[in-house]
Amino acid sequence: MSRALIAGNWKMNGLKASLSQVEAVAAAVGSGHGDVTALLCLPATLVAAGSESAEGTALRIGGETCHHNVKGAHTGDISAEMLADAGASHVIVGHSERRADHGESDAVVSAQASAALAASLVPIICVGESLAEREAGRTLERIESQLAGSIPDGVGAADFVIAYEPIWAIGTGKVASTEQIAEVHGAIRAWLSGRFGASGVETLILYGGSMNPANAAEILAVDNVNGGLIGGASLKAEDFLSIYRAAI
Ligand code: PGA
Repeated sequence: MSRALIAGNWKMNGLKASLSQVEAVAAAVGSGHGDVTALLCLPATLVAAGSESAEGTALRIGGETCHHNVKGAHTGDISAEMLADAGASHVIVGHSERRADHGESDAVVSAQASAALAASLVPIICVGESLAEREAGRTLERIESQLAGSIPDGVGAADFVIAYEPIWAIGTGKVASTEQIAEVHGAIRAWLSGRFGASGVETLILYGGSMNPANAAEILAVDNVNGGLIGGASLKAEDFLSIYRAAI
């Protein structure tokens, strides 16, 4: 692959003992391989220690969400600056689990992405349709409205990453077909070109949803797929690394 990002999303998994997996990934990534970035987005409690484990290597550490405000009276929330201070380089925003569990709207996701950029983090903005939306033939309409609502004004095309994650494929073992992925990634690229002109090609578009060592190479070969956002298969260093190796 040319420029690509292989990103893990540990979700609400991982205790201090799991740092051995971060260390194993960091050791294998070493000084990096070409233009393919390896990133592990960790629960907030592990970001600082994970960053220490990855220090001196090309492995990057990210957060899984951030608050849209810079600081203040938001008990339990984490700001983008806090993640950056703990060593993060990226943060996932608008994951469908956050949109569902915490009622995060496109407007909130857009504000979170702005907060991330203000703290010099790269936001990974997630979009994806439900099974009902796909079955109703409304997939592209849904994705385009999420893109329009979730990407903040005033950003450059290379400042953020998009992750296309069909909700029905997340954690279900049901992976989207290469035709379905090609169609949506092509539509996202066309939308980005409409918004950003020639620089629309610079945005990385990741696929996420039951990606694993067995299907990674095929998915990564699809047009306009510039990497993956990997949940379950990112928890074990060996599985994550095998997906990373499929990209380098
Ligand atoms: P999964 O999760 O790989 O476990 O399907 C992907 C994600 O939700 O980011």
